[in-house]
Amino acid sequence: MSAGRFITLEGIEGAGKSTVALALRAELEGRGLDVLLTREPGGTPLAESLRELLLRKGGEVLNPAAETLLMFAARAVHLDNAIRPALASGRWVICDRYTDASYAYQGGGRAVSTALIDQLAAAVHADLWPDRTLLLDLPVSTGLERAKSRPGAPDRFESEQRSFFERVRAAYLQRAAREPQRIRIIDGQGSAAAVVAAALAAIADLLPAAAR
Ligand code: TYD
Repeated sequence: MSAGRFITLEGIEGAGKSTVALALRAELEGRGLDVLLTREPGGTPLAESLRELLLRKGGEVLNPAAETLLMFAARAVHLDNAIRPALASGRWVICDRYTDASYAYQGGGRAVSTALIDQLAAAVHADLWPDRTLLLDLPVSTGLERAKSRPGAPDRFESEQRSFFERVRAAYLQRAAREPQRIRIIDGQGSAAAVVAAALAAIADLLPAAAR
């Protein structure tokens, strides 16, 4: 059995993560790998309940610190009940968002201190960072237009101002610049086929030789 790998997808709203996640799963399964496709916040029943609370609009004030704590609570549950067991049994994990999203959205978007996020990340998963993170990058205006054309009412994050997403994007790009080996920037403006091809190329070195 070859070792499972942990791949995460990141980007602003409308970047195309879900499309790439599904296509990557199909590509990896086509190469004989066992894949868990999951998402954050969420990925297990309890963590999906926390997601509900985080994305719901209206109701009580949820301040940036509380939002951050709930994101990490959901992450801890998700890690224990889905991600760690999958990796331990040799499965590949493709996760739509992970801790880089907390640095981008809570840190960049909401100005939560990096020190707090560092502490929470260390407490929840000091030992477990993704083997590779694909940052699907595109201009905020393009992402928001795409997101707007989706069915359903905008959630608590989707309802934010454009300036919020500019800060989120900038925080993502800053992290990618600091960790170029792990975080690969992929141009999210190309065709779906081009983005998927770039995503596959960005994880090719992680594939077992027989699956390349
Ligand atoms: P996502 O499922 O990617 O939403 P969508 O598919 O509608 O783009 O993520 C839900 C929201 O959660 C998204 O707006 C970003 C936010 N989020 C954070 O703010 N911090 C985090 O740590 C994570 C994982 C997500």
